[in-house]
Amino acid sequence: MDTERTSVQQASRILVTRRLPSSVLAKLEAAGGVDLYSGDAAIAPDELRARVADKNALVSLLTDAIDRTVIDAAPELKVIANVAVGFNNIDVAYATSRGVVVTHTPDVLTESVADFTWALILAITRRLAEGERVVRSGAWKGWALDFMLGTELNGKQLGLVGVGRIGRAVAARAPVFGMRVVYTEPRDVDLPGAENVSLDRLLNTSDIVSLHVPLLPETRHLIDKKSLARMKRSAYLINTARGPVVDEAALAWALQHHLLAGAALDVYENEPAVHPELLKLDNVLLVPHLASATTETRTAMADLAAENVLAVLAGRPALTPVVLSQR
Ligand code: DGY
Repeated sequence: MDTERTSVQQASRILVTRRLPSSVLAKLEAAGGVDLYSGDAAIAPDELRARVADKNALVSLLTDAIDRTVIDAAPELKVIANVAVGFNNIDVAYATSRGVVVTHTPDVLTESVADFTWALILAITRRLAEGERVVRSGAWKGWALDFMLGTELNGKQLGLVGVGRIGRAVAARAPVFGMRVVYTEPRDVDLPGAENVSLDRLLNTSDIVSLHVPLLPETRHLIDKKSLARMKRSAYLINTARGPVVDEAALAWALQHHLLAGAALDVYENEPAVHPELLKLDNVLLVPHLASATTETRTAMADLAAENVLAVLAGRPALTPVVLSQR
């Protein structure tokens, strides 16, 4: 291993676009020269192109657009290691055509994102954020039998749009809350007790609709005016996947017209901006892309990205390469 790290070190020039946990940075530094962008916001595209030019590894965040211009600016680049399971910020097809390996961080965030999905489901159906606002504003007049009533989950249906690793982990928690599960996927998956149904039927019959698809051309605005209008008026929409899977303007319209009971969003079309109409509504819970945000998970994500860099620079296969057909 030491010999391997030394030989990696001689050749390695690694650009890291945002501060990482110190243990992870130390691991990369032991393997080569690290150029760390330490700004608080995402690195500007021009600076990214300039700093990646002489690098052979790039550790990127989901806030960095790694497009053709970035890849073309780095003729010696061997690996792009995204610290995220999603990789819609990277032109993977172009990187692959240029012989650059792209990696991501599956598995290590599955449980924390699944927990967070349930936190959102409980919070929106039991009106936690709304209740907190009432208490903090001093508007609470005291306990009343019919005050701020929510909706129970027991006996209801959870509809999962996409059942990859995270969707399956969300499904695994459903029996605890007494919910039955339906899902929509092109092929059946091994999910005991859950039924594979069309998107139309899922939207029509589910009490909670939770999104777990990657952002691809075919999933952009998958939830639009038409699909929102198919949902039960008593149903809730949960999005921990990617913002552009939902047409935010359509969602604001549907919530204003009470076509659904509410929505809980962790991700947005143009982060960190949120559609101004959503900000005015009480029946939508808005949180800032936190689903994987635990110390343990974020450290594990950064560590996996570093291990991918080390593997590729040492001439070994990447641990978790992006496979373009994957869902
Ligand atoms: C991911 O890894 O894609 C998540 O969105 C990060 O929170």
